[in-house]
Amino acid sequence: MTATTQAPTTHEGILSWVNEIAEMTRPDHIHWCTGSDEEWDHLTRSLEATGTFTRLNPAIKPNSFYAASDPTDVARVEGRTFICSVDEKDCGPTNNWMDPNEMKAIMRDLYDGCMRGRTMYVIPFVMGHVEAENPMFGVEITDSAYVTVSMRVMARMGTEVLRKMEETNAKFVPALHSVGMPLEPGQADVAWPCNDTKYIVQFPEERMIWSYGSGYGGNALLGKKCYALRIASVMARDEGWLAEHMLILKLTSPQNVVKYIAAAFPSACGKTNLAMLAPTIPGWKVETLGDDIAWMRVGEDGRLWAVNPEYGFFGVAPGTNEHTNPNAMKTINKGNSVFTNVALTPDGDIWWEGLENTPEHARSWKGEDWTPDSDQLSSHPNSRYCTPIKQCDILAPEYDDPRGVPIDAILFGGRRKTTIPLVFEARDWTHGTFLGATLSSETTAAAVGAVGVVRRDPMAMLPFIGYNAGHYFNHWITVGKENDAAKLPRIFYVNWFRRDDEGGFLWPGFGENSRVLKWIVERIDGQTSAVETPIGHVPAPGTLDVEGLDMAPEAVEAALAVDVEEWKAEVPQIQEWFEKFGDDLPAVLWTELDGLKARLGA
Ligand code: GDP
Ligand code: PGA
Ligand code: MN
Ligand code: MN
Repeated sequence: MTATTQAPTTHEGILSWVNEIAEMTRPDHIHWCTGSDEEWDHLTRSLEATGTFTRLNPAIKPNSFYAASDPTDVARVEGRTFICSVDEKDCGPTNNWMDPNEMKAIMRDLYDGCMRGRTMYVIPFVMGHVEAENPMFGVEITDSAYVTVSMRVMARMGTEVLRKMEETNAKFVPALHSVGMPLEPGQADVAWPCNDTKYIVQFPEERMIWSYGSGYGGNALLGKKCYALRIASVMARDEGWLAEHMLILKLTSPQNVVKYIAAAFPSACGKTNLAMLAPTIPGWKVETLGDDIAWMRVGEDGRLWAVNPEYGFFGVAPGTNEHTNPNAMKTINKGNSVFTNVALTPDGDIWWEGLENTPEHARSWKGEDWTPDSDQLSSHPNSRYCTPIKQCDILAPEYDDPRGVPIDAILFGGRRKTTIPLVFEARDWTHGTFLGATLSSETTAAAVGAVGVVRRDPMAMLPFIGYNAGHYFNHWITVGKENDAAKLPRIFYVNWFRRDDEGGFLWPGFGENSRVLKWIVERIDGQTSAVETPIGHVPAPGTLDVEGLDMAPEAVEAALAVDVEEWKAEVPQIQEWFEKFGDDLPAVLWTELDGLKARLGA
């Protein structure tokens, strides 16, 4: 079968690429995705037929589905993720590299006939707005109906996007995905096809993505991490903008003053929750614009304008509940969502650790009977909900503006039991870049590997920088140098995860984080004060609003404390981290480290 016989497009570039891939992968059918409701119904029904999807009770979660992955295919695979730049130096010390030709030879062997017995889906999509000045098009080819359905939630896709690409004969990022499990004639499919061999590969010069062997979101929905972060970060470097792993929120004060805040936390460290925060302090309002990715450009007014290129939320399920994230609960309860690796309850609903109304029985993500007495988790720690952003009641109207919103503050943050105070402010943009470049966090279940190990995760982008991280730091420094610092966002560092001596969280987090946001905007507007410490500016005593908070003053103090001895212990770790980059590390970051050392007396 050739693509052209039924191809609904006149776009030569797409046609020839689809034909080329079809010849290599040899699918039984080719389906050009329209994005229509009929298509969704057809795909979700066929996913029910293969056992991939279980339809949830329509009275509880209309048009929603439960899926359980193969137990080995639950998270991003950083060890199998490659940046295949032509020159190894462009990949840098933090990414895996292979020569692009060598990689293509290996992967062509894997792709050879890999779609036999399957349908190949062609998904035209755009990251960001189709009406943007330069719409960022892509076409994903996949042999997974699960991926196709999920892409419809996460990205603007389908016929309308294809028409726009044709009108302008637009360039696009070709993104090829296969689960790597061809079917012989008569061979029955499995609920979650995948392959033990996995490759998630970016070719930065060609702006091209090849993914093989995994059906998990971050490895398979190629518009998200692969395009909107890894490939886009390379485009951003070349064109002078920023592609970042950041949420975007709109904060309105009781006096109706609006601020826009972007925040970079590593995977499973609180972005989705902060993006949809329900403030506990009276009169303050949060609206959301995005929960994972921000594309930011300096506008003609000198301010940094951000858009969310995505169209849905792909959120961590465990821990989400009516208290921690009521807005996410309302969003998913409207239906039209896919839940992966959570538990299925007898009434056809889903459940996960931390959700209210613990069921007496459930089917665990591994397909086993689960009760509250089980010694196993009902849901994988990286189980996810995939839900349309438009269903979010607190979506800011500016979400639909292709220009985006002007950012007032950038927050960096991670998951650290010690050392990092609840909040502090950078001295200036370069110091903020230093804080971002040295950001550290305990690893989480969002990636395959050990959990709870402290590692450097610069700007929360360690797994997503599509080029040499040393050059990426330099790009940040340059943005600060080439623009009016007074108009750029102020930079803060936060840590919701500091622990007390008993191992409990010092800070209650979630809705109470609004208190920290309040301090940040008051700081920006010069309405509150800070004390200078060796690491930056922390809230002056009494300036963090803790009214009505059930927390001992000593605990608040402990959450905000700067412990010089703990920071002295960070210094050699930062030094070792910086040494990795050799000459590629901007010299000003060494100067920043020297300054920190001197201020600490280290
Ligand atoms: P994301 O992956 O960065 O979007 O992170 P999420 O917002 O999905 O949160 C990841 C996990 O951290 C979830 O289990 C949340 O319940 C938990 N979490 C989020 N915010 C907070 C917080 O302020 N305090 C604490 N203790 N946990 C949080
Ligand atoms: P997260 O998104 O940041 O919400 O965890 C997925 C990921 O980064 O893998
Ligand atoms: Mn993420
Ligand atoms: Mn998230």
